[in-house]
Amino acid sequence: MSRIAVIGTGYVGLTTGAYLAHIGHEVICADVVKEKVDRLSRGDVPIFELGLEDLVRSGLKSGLLRFVVGSERAVGDAEFVFLCLPTPQGAGGGADLSFIEAEAEHLGPLLAPGTVVINKSTVPVGSTRRVERGLGRGDVFVVSNPEFLREGSAVHDCLNPDRIVIGADSAAAATRVASLYERINAPVLVTDPASSELIKYASNAFLATKISYVNAIANLCEVVGADVKEVVLGMGYDKRIGFEFLRPGPGWGGSCFPKDTKALVKIAQDAGYNFGLLDGVIDVNVEQYARMADKIQGACPDAVLDGRTVAVWGLTFKAMTDDLRDSPSLEVVRRLHERGASVRAFDPQVNPQQAQTDRRLEGVTICADPYDACTGAAAVAVLTEWDEFRWLDFEKVRDLLAAPVIVDCRNLLDPAAMRKRGFAYHGVGR
Ligand code: UGA
Repeated sequence: MSRIAVIGTGYVGLTTGAYLAHIGHEVICADVVKEKVDRLSRGDVPIFELGLEDLVRSGLKSGLLRFVVGSERAVGDAEFVFLCLPTPQGAGGGADLSFIEAEAEHLGPLLAPGTVVINKSTVPVGSTRRVERGLGRGDVFVVSNPEFLREGSAVHDCLNPDRIVIGADSAAAATRVASLYERINAPVLVTDPASSELIKYASNAFLATKISYVNAIANLCEVVGADVKEVVLGMGYDKRIGFEFLRPGPGWGGSCFPKDTKALVKIAQDAGYNFGLLDGVIDVNVEQYARMADKIQGACPDAVLDGRTVAVWGLTFKAMTDDLRDSPSLEVVRRLHERGASVRAFDPQVNPQQAQTDRRLEGVTICADPYDACTGAAAVAVLTEWDEFRWLDFEKVRDLLAAPVIVDCRNLLDPAAMRKRGFAYHGVGR
């Protein structure tokens, strides 16, 4: 058992802290927001993430997990300090490291000799060095150990990682970090800090590339009369390609891919390398938002959106999360608004009150259920792949809509079944 401090209780910090306690370590999680710490100390998790609340509650019950206000109250006895702080997009597209650097300066004088400080957040190449400088200590270690969890399956991903990556100059510090994960069955790659930092960006950018690629193929399918589902199936059987991350849709979003792809372009640019491939990946993604708006417009009677109502199913950036950050659905909604449409939306994780305080939802009527959203709408667009949208009463949906039109931007529904029920069905790439 090791004594661990986790600084920051956002997605990565909270999941990391809870799972490190779950695998037997003594963990103190620190945050600056008192209300959040109070809630977490009661076992009340402010984000919707499968299994996370159970993990937090069992950690609190066992006494292995605690929450405190202020990082200085967490690090005194810690052998390991995980930095899980935000790295928002800064000016020029690069990651803004100011939270991490400020915390390093704050914690430097407080750490016990021999402490290992671990960068868990996605940080640009060179950040390990910047944290070392911020700490200003020759007797502590700084190690990169990026996190690869996905929202919606964060707990599962932490407990069943594909790999554990550790970037360290000191072999002894790397071995100590590896020992934290003794109970996890996964390959451990020990490398230098810069390679470790780049592995995280290269992985996210590659996944984004796969999605932009399949979206481009889906667009091509539409013009040559092919079916992207068949194309992906035929590609995926090739083990070098695989089936994962080849689901076409309205484009990729969320708190990671948009920010990390831009940051990687900037990292390359600053180093004098023109990463044109990744620029193309980002461009395809932005075009995809507009293509979805075009698709919805084209499906409406006379291809007119102005003055019409569109029903939208799904607002979060993907299913099984309540996260609206950089959501492709909201990008499409914005374009529908620009073209004069009103939007009535339903999402299982967005409630009508939220629309009054959340500026991202400005102008959207949030409905209590998917049927209500369809009332009088010229078309319904599926923009997030919530499973419950498959199992609706589609006769009722058809009767509520002003015209029986479904634009399935996630290829969630069965086109034949929809057409049999009398809908004009439009998918992506088929
Ligand atoms: C992503 C990575 O998958 C994680 O490995 C990484 O740890 C995380 O970012 C991070 O850097 O913290 P996440 O943002 O939670 O995880 O979401 P993903 O499941 O990767 O989905 C990202 C976007 O791509 C979503 O908008 C999703 O709908 C879209 N997507 C995904 C597709 O359009 N098609 C696909 O086939 C897969």
